[in-house]
Amino acid sequence: MNWTLSRRAEGMNPSVLREILKVAEKPGIISLAGGLPSAKTFPIEAMAAACQEVLSKSGPAALQYAASEGYEPLRIWITEQLAANQGMTVDPDQVLITTGSQQALDLIGKVLIDTGSRILVETPTYLGALQAFSPMEPNVVSVDCDEQGPLPEDLAVKIGEGADRARFMYLLPNFQNPTGRTMSAERRAALMAEAARLGLPIVEDNPYGELWFEQAPPAALSSYNPEGSIYMGSFSKILAPGLRLGYVIAPKALYPKLLQAKQAADLHTPIFNQRLVAEVLKDNFIDRHVPTIRALYKQQRDTMLAVLEREMAGLDVRWSKPEGGMFLWVRVPEHIDTLPLLAKAVERNVAFVPGAAFYAGTPARNTLRLSFVTASAEQINIAITALAEVLRAEIAAQPKPLQAASAAELDTVA
Ligand SMILES: Cc1ncc(COP(=O)(O)O)c(C=O)c1O
Repeated sequence: MNWTLSRRAEGMNPSVLREILKVAEKPGIISLAGGLPSAKTFPIEAMAAACQEVLSKSGPAALQYAASEGYEPLRIWITEQLAANQGMTVDPDQVLITTGSQQALDLIGKVLIDTGSRILVETPTYLGALQAFSPMEPNVVSVDCDEQGPLPEDLAVKIGEGADRARFMYLLPNFQNPTGRTMSAERRAALMAEAARLGLPIVEDNPYGELWFEQAPPAALSSYNPEGSIYMGSFSKILAPGLRLGYVIAPKALYPKLLQAKQAADLHTPIFNQRLVAEVLKDNFIDRHVPTIRALYKQQRDTMLAVLEREMAGLDVRWSKPEGGMFLWVRVPEHIDTLPLLAKAVERNVAFVPGAAFYAGTPARNTLRLSFVTASAEQINIAITALAEVLRAEIAAQPKPLQAASAAELDTVA
């Protein structure tokens, strides 16, 4: 049988990340590649007790079809958290529970992107967002960034004109995936002032905001201009990703369209999971649980930074020092491509994600992403030591071309 694929399906590519994760499943490999939270942080006992409670108290309702908007007590809990932590005043009617925040990206793409629509993203940006938007065939334009995120002055340059004016900009203000960078309060204010001046809508994605190590990041971008912003959050990094629970906060004018897209996609997010989480979250559970994740991840980050400092000494390699989240971003000498480097690292039983996958525009091929949360301290030591050896050998084998040397010196990102 000859199946004729839609143009949309033709345009879909296998996720580079998934392909890499397959490699990383090789026995004995230490993977610093995955975007998985540490399984040590999953609150299994609390979940078991809550499961029992949900089934015995409201079994039939927990197993029945439910409202597309989501479970009301969970939506109210979300508005309270956003008020306390993000400076956002949100009505529960603006909260749409989604099947992970990944689904929120898909719904936003369906509702806001036509074929060829210009959308703006950070340089680099979350690969999963590029994948979610791509079936809608947007024209994805990268905004110039420094170590604090997008440069406000570049918005006017990239926004486009007339019918080609950008539909929105997708932004990750906290402990960004992949760089680990965070926007300062000043950068947020300047960026949002410029977006408001230009009439540019904002799509804010914040799955890592609660995973801060020293101090909470500044208020959400959406708090500056609620009518001009969509906000996404997730339970994946603070409870467990397998629950597939996320949410989107939309201005009231946009909410019905997202809801219709949600109904068409899957009717509703599993109500059992929503009730389970609402039960777990009772009695301020999150205020006791999240600090344990922060403490573990901070310790892991400190270990990775210390080993990088020790092992990369003397090499022209730089890395970000994230103040939260799960990832650290590394820049190797300009002329080293990290994709072929990965194959050599895998031979030494180490995996990372080559940075090129995270760019919508011209990629910086000399970058890579490391996760510091899933490997143990001992594994981090072994893996970074091996990675430094692979890099040292590569740098020795490929002497620095003259031009690349001057470009590397000028380079300020990450
Ligand atoms: C920036 C970002 N957004 C969204 C997601 C999707 O998360 P989930 O669908 O599990 O809520 C991820 C997952 O890693 C992410 O890193």
